[in-house]
Amino acid sequence: MILRRAAVLIFSILTGGLVAKAQTGPPAIRLDRRGDFAQLMIDNRPFLILGGELGNSSASSMDYLRPYWDHFRRMHLNTVIAPVYWELLEPIEGHFNFGLVDSLIDEAARHELRLVLLWFGTWKNSMSCYAPLWMKTDPRRFPRTADSAGRSQEIFSAFGKETLEADKKAFAALMRHVRDVDAAKHTVILVQVENEIGMLPTAREVSAAANARYAAKIPAELTAYLKKNRDGLVPELVTRWVANGGRTDGSWGEVFGQGVATEELFQAWYYARYANAVAAAGKKEYNVPMYVNAALPRPGVLPGKYPSAGPLPHLMDLWQAAAPAIDWLSPDFYNPDTRYWCDLYVRNRNPLFIPEMRFDRTVAAKVFLVVGHYKALGFSPFSIESESEASAPLGKSYYLLQQLSPVITGRKWLDMDGFIFDGRNRTSSIRMGHYTITLAHYNTLPWAGGGKDSLWGATGGLVIQTGEDEFLVAGTGFVASFANTDPGKVSNIASCDEVEYIDGREVLGRRMNGDQDHQGRHVRFGTEEWGIQKVRLYNSPRSIE
Ligand code: DGJ
Repeated sequence: MILRRAAVLIFSILTGGLVAKAQTGPPAIRLDRRGDFAQLMIDNRPFLILGGELGNSSASSMDYLRPYWDHFRRMHLNTVIAPVYWELLEPIEGHFNFGLVDSLIDEAARHELRLVLLWFGTWKNSMSCYAPLWMKTDPRRFPRTADSAGRSQEIFSAFGKETLEADKKAFAALMRHVRDVDAAKHTVILVQVENEIGMLPTAREVSAAANARYAAKIPAELTAYLKKNRDGLVPELVTRWVANGGRTDGSWGEVFGQGVATEELFQAWYYARYANAVAAAGKKEYNVPMYVNAALPRPGVLPGKYPSAGPLPHLMDLWQAAAPAIDWLSPDFYNPDTRYWCDLYVRNRNPLFIPEMRFDRTVAAKVFLVVGHYKALGFSPFSIESESEASAPLGKSYYLLQQLSPVITGRKWLDMDGFIFDGRNRTSSIRMGHYTITLAHYNTLPWAGGGKDSLWGATGGLVIQTGEDEFLVAGTGFVASFANTDPGKVSNIASCDEVEYIDGREVLGRRMNGDQDHQGRHVRFGTEEWGIQKVRLYNSPRSIE
């Protein structure tokens, strides 16, 4: 094992490591943007992340993790999202232990899985629990925040200069090591910087350093951003800014008004500067895309009462202006309002990537909405190794998306959309070319009858228009019917075939006619069925005269 690792290291230093250093063209792993559409590219090929995030402690023991790798393959995951723990990476200041990271990369590569690394650094869910003990026990060097009564919190201050330097150093060491061992293989494709940064239990820090900055003029970079993006800011910020006179100069309170909302903007700026400095230090060693994630607040709760100032939608201008080294902002979903939050996150050209979603049965449906409608970079339920009744359904949805990946990411379509039925809606309708496509929840479970929303299993799918009159329809638990937008024409199914893509080859299965397409009326997938069907339509005059 040691010999193998030494050989890999020497090989990668001779090849990947040097290549990475000498690289002048675009990075091998990068975010490509075409208009509003963003794609993750790995070795010049687009990649859709069908992922799963490990529970927090699972990557601290490779023995614990061992039985799960094959399970991930069976679930058709192509990527595992796994933490790297600062306390275990640098248990003694300046002494790094890369054993866990190496094993993680080895195991993932052996199972042909990619990795997203989560840097559990200065902050993890607001707290600083993953910082090494040599930092936690030295509050003079590494200052902590306090609550409104002045009680010290296990949360490092964003203004601690030595804290930032220590984080940058550790993160840079991690990225340098990943480059050395993995730049030739590209197992590691993304890195999340910190985890759910968020201020608690106040909206901003109240130390002397923080107070001085809060009273000073807003940073010059923010002034420049406000001037440049005056017409493109998110409405939540514009409203506050304009209501206070639309100034580009002055203290935080003068520009945005006094109160907790402005305090949150202030704290967001300094969190973002911190995360940016960490990301930039890492990218200098190994340039892969990096993102930050956020815990979504409950509606109506004031800043300070939820983890505040993280990369939240109402703060996205602050984060984007302060953190150019961060490639995007991601939401973590533990609430059911998928559409509401996704709509907020795709503003300001922010690509959508969902690193965490509560792992219940609905994820098998939601993934179609996220990929089909939002053209997301990827999707990933949380605690993917846990025993869950959602594993099998998610695996089936991932299998469909794995097959369709070349079509989706290769943009071999005229149009694409995704939808879910989660008990809130039973039908939806989309326009594609000269068709209106009506989608309706379809329930074949006998116990789910009677129209009770609580008994509705979540279902969903996507529609891909591959030609003027040709569509790929995929998913579970719905019917799709097609109508011509020209009132003078009626549309009917010319053919409907089951399709499977095996090694990229299209293999036709059953011709879905008769009972399967309700005698030509619509395309149909039962609640417990998953599939892809290729539909061709023909049109005739509405009037028979
Ligand atoms: C969100 C965090 O980002 C995860 O690390 C984990 O703590 C989950 N919450 C637990 O629900």
